[in-house]
Amino acid sequence: MKARMTIDRDYRIGDINRRLYGSFIEHLGRAVYGGIYEPGHPDADGRGFRRDVLGLVRELGVPVVRYPGGNFVCSFDWEDSVGPVEARPARLDLAWRSLEPNLFGLNEFMAWAKEAGTEAMMALNLGTRGIDAARNLLEYCNYPGGTYWSDLRRSHGVSEPYGIKLWCIGNEMDGPWQVGQKTAEEYGRLAYETAKAMRLFDPSLELVACGSSFAAMPTFPDWEATVLGHCYEQVDYVSLHSYYQNTADDLGEYLADSVGMGEFIDSVASACDFVKARKRSRKTMMLSFDEWNVWFHTNADDRHVDPWRVGPPLLEDAYTFEDALVVGCLIIALLKRADRVKIACLAQLVNVIAPIMTARGGQAWRQTIFYPFLHASRYGRGTALDLRVDAPTYESKRFGPVPYVDAVATVDEGAGEMAVFAVNRSLTERAEVELRLGGYESWAFAERIELAGFDPKAANTAERPLAVFPRSSPEGASVEGGMLRTSLPPLSWSVIRLAAPRR
Ligand code: AHR
Repeated sequence: MKARMTIDRDYRIGDINRRLYGSFIEHLGRAVYGGIYEPGHPDADGRGFRRDVLGLVRELGVPVVRYPGGNFVCSFDWEDSVGPVEARPARLDLAWRSLEPNLFGLNEFMAWAKEAGTEAMMALNLGTRGIDAARNLLEYCNYPGGTYWSDLRRSHGVSEPYGIKLWCIGNEMDGPWQVGQKTAEEYGRLAYETAKAMRLFDPSLELVACGSSFAAMPTFPDWEATVLGHCYEQVDYVSLHSYYQNTADDLGEYLADSVGMGEFIDSVASACDFVKARKRSRKTMMLSFDEWNVWFHTNADDRHVDPWRVGPPLLEDAYTFEDALVVGCLIIALLKRADRVKIACLAQLVNVIAPIMTARGGQAWRQTIFYPFLHASRYGRGTALDLRVDAPTYESKRFGPVPYVDAVATVDEGAGEMAVFAVNRSLTERAEVELRLGGYESWAFAERIELAGFDPKAANTAERPLAVFPRSSPEGASVEGGMLRTSLPPLSWSVIRLAAPRR
């Protein structure tokens, strides 16, 4: 099949915020205990942080990590997690029916984030707690000293304030599964008052209000309209969450899920713009897609995990090659909306629906989904460019005609680098690509990276950590007369990198 594409210097979608490549660590399963923190592991440092995991997190280049939940946060008392470890209480975590020993808490996370070279996105408990816990936590984290909470932090050995900028006001507050679920009216009012109190401390904080837990929630998008009706001017972002699955084992449908993600983003943006119009506001609400990924492989097994254990093996999806292609499609959908989506968190980072897996006492390895995320985080910089694609389509039961080839381009003019991210959804046919480089005629082909040729169900495991991996080549594409020509194998994720002419 043929796929014609056109880039133009003027087809700018928007600036790509680095936070689009964020991730998430929740006190859930083995994300913390046995994931990023495993005292006694041969590769752990004096604080119990696994250095091999830190190395992989740095390799992924994650600029922001959301913490400590997730559902966990809505019944979490942050005060339990600070101070001398031996004095911290063990608590029952109702969200995941696990035991939280509080051996790893707020200050350990901030130390870990510094090692990982990442920013913290701190989530607040708006389930069982509210304004009071939020304002005290903020003072503990961000006030220099001389007050009760800031001096408490100092007494815990942290003399400098953290200056955490980014705060999630609760998590999935509409969910019946949430401890402390709220109606849109209840949450909207509480989010407004919490944001107001936080802004009295520091007007420059960046605050994220909870959107609907996912697009199929019966209250979506009225939830957004009602919640933002209360707190539109007090917050900077509204959150989106979405997980994708191939439970019907229909690969064509599964690969079309990114169309649904795009429609979800567009609908949330419309709901925000409706409130903007109703309020005659000058402000445009930005979006924080702070939970997205594939999640379904372990759903059945997770129901049988014994409750009230520390770090039980929950949500340990072993990702396949087809999952990596879907993640590639989802990244393309996010980049296509880089003008509105300014934060996105791949949920999650280690062991729990994660690109990085670990064996207790053993090795750490890259799951299949590690690779498209790595490529985007490394090369998807600067400005997102709308790449018009003219390719044959197939019929999706949910979305109608879906193009076999999906792609987006990013350009970093300062660095002289461009990347084209492309997926071929066809199970059988190669796509011959002709891409017109409008405004970039003199740029040269630099590198082609490809994830292709694997069994759709192939996965990386402790025994075979390199079963699925990308290949890079200085060949496989050419630019002549402002036209880039390349070929995309069936079922493939490709990155085609171009470089500006040398001056
Ligand atoms: O990421 C796993 C869970 O999914 C999070 O705790 C919750 O916010 C969402 O439902």
